[in-house]
Amino acid sequence: MSTLRDIHAQRLLILDFGSQYTQLIARRVRESGVYCEIYPFDITAEQIAEFAPAGVILSGGPETVTEGSTPRIPEKVFQLQVPVLGICYGLQAMAAQLGGAVASSDKREFGHAQIQAEQSSQLLDDMFDSSGVVNVWMSHGDKVSSLPSGFTRTASSPSAPIAAMEDPERRFFGVQFHPEVTHTDNGEALIHNFARNICGCAGDWTAANIVSDAIAAIQAQVGQDKVVLGLSGGVDSSVVAALLATAIGDQLTCIFVDNGLLRKNESEEVRAAFSGAMGDGTLAELNIITVNAQAEFLDKLAGVDDPEAKRKIIGATFIDVFDREATALKDVNWLAQGTIYPDVIESAASKYGKAHVIKSHHNVGGLPERMTLKLVEPLRELFKDEVRKIGLHLGLPESLIFRHPFPGPGLGVRILGEVKPSYADVLREADAIFIEELRNANLYSQVSQAFAVYLPVKSVGVVGDARRYEHVIALRAVETIDFMTARWAHLPYEFIERVSNRIINEIAAVSRVVYDVSSKPPATIEWE
Ligand code: XMP
Repeated sequence: MSTLRDIHAQRLLILDFGSQYTQLIARRVRESGVYCEIYPFDITAEQIAEFAPAGVILSGGPETVTEGSTPRIPEKVFQLQVPVLGICYGLQAMAAQLGGAVASSDKREFGHAQIQAEQSSQLLDDMFDSSGVVNVWMSHGDKVSSLPSGFTRTASSPSAPIAAMEDPERRFFGVQFHPEVTHTDNGEALIHNFARNICGCAGDWTAANIVSDAIAAIQAQVGQDKVVLGLSGGVDSSVVAALLATAIGDQLTCIFVDNGLLRKNESEEVRAAFSGAMGDGTLAELNIITVNAQAEFLDKLAGVDDPEAKRKIIGATFIDVFDREATALKDVNWLAQGTIYPDVIESAASKYGKAHVIKSHHNVGGLPERMTLKLVEPLRELFKDEVRKIGLHLGLPESLIFRHPFPGPGLGVRILGEVKPSYADVLREADAIFIEELRNANLYSQVSQAFAVYLPVKSVGVVGDARRYEHVIALRAVETIDFMTARWAHLPYEFIERVSNRIINEIAAVSRVVYDVSSKPPATIEWE
């Protein structure tokens, strides 16, 4: 048995100056095998010292250092004697604070640019091609106009003569471009060089190590206690279940609530995913209590057609049902939750009074206070892509790990207006046909989210010689990176035709199928 290394010991500190790319920086650092955390730029010197980073990365940001009241780098960062990398605003603030100069410009440079190597650099060398150039992504107004003492210029671009600078002695580096975005060629080489070679981190942050570390942490946290988890079939709760089952076996009970608004065969598929993963004996059998609460949800939804009212009813009923089932279990003192790192960063950011950039949907609005369960949140420090990696490592099938997201209120927001059980049945069938055909045509993983929507409007169709008035199914498929903006997926016409024919032929209650060609914004992904 090897003893566990502390995989958080060598870590980078990322100070956030408000860039939309800050989380991407952290993801790239993690991908290079190094643990890191994001904090607001104005954390205290004591917090920085306590964090004890092996290196610091300063993010970009929307402000200009040419104004006095804008964010500055805490002096402590320059006193730690560890490598520092400033990106965009981070570079400009570093230049301004260390004695260089920054010029403001009314013209923003946004988009692709080519940078030219000006001299050898440990940070940049692996990025350039043989003629010393590389394509990068720029997004800035200001630029560094004179170097601080000790620094040399390592790269230039036509619009940013100091596109990169470094002080090899103090190990301070700055780049005007964004190595963290995929539009920058070989940006990952720069991040890898910084995190691994310049900061000297070993690369302990791997899926296998994260899993061993999480298991040990869960065992230490809950001991012999019992834990309850709401299993939804989504990636996060499934990975939490797999981790906990591995760590504490049958001390874990999962509650799967069937609210009558799930996709076809949902609960069977979730069970199958786990029995497959556990078939080889590496994971303990998962205790799943499936609660059939269909009638309870659908009764409460009867007559309600306002989307937000429906969401509230579904959320509140979930809490009631979950609470009742969890309370019926004896001696449970822990509630497991699939909170992930972006949730943690966002709630910290709102505590610091920053704008909430990302819209969040809360499926569970919070459990009743009398449920005095302690929280175990083993994914709290992980990004979604890391959750997927460890899920695969734990043996969960790809079909579950790479499933499209499914909203908490489920089909409840995909049946426009009042939810009726018969509508849900029809929608389940139509949705299953759409998804099955996407998988058969190898298109499922090319779209980010796809589903059917039930439109309870009467539309005419002709069957044999008779006219029949039935309802409409809309198909929605989008491509997106972050679900904040999305493009409607340009699925092949023949494919849409096949799906439409199948739905109309196989489901008598549908007379017409339409395809949604709205992008977000202004349309949202869901119809309600
Ligand atoms: P919209 O419709 O806002 O959707 O463009 C963006 C993403 O969020 C999902 N979504 C929800 N998820 N509860 C959820 O858990 C909700 O009430 C909810 N509404 C939308 C949607 O499926 C898409 O992935």
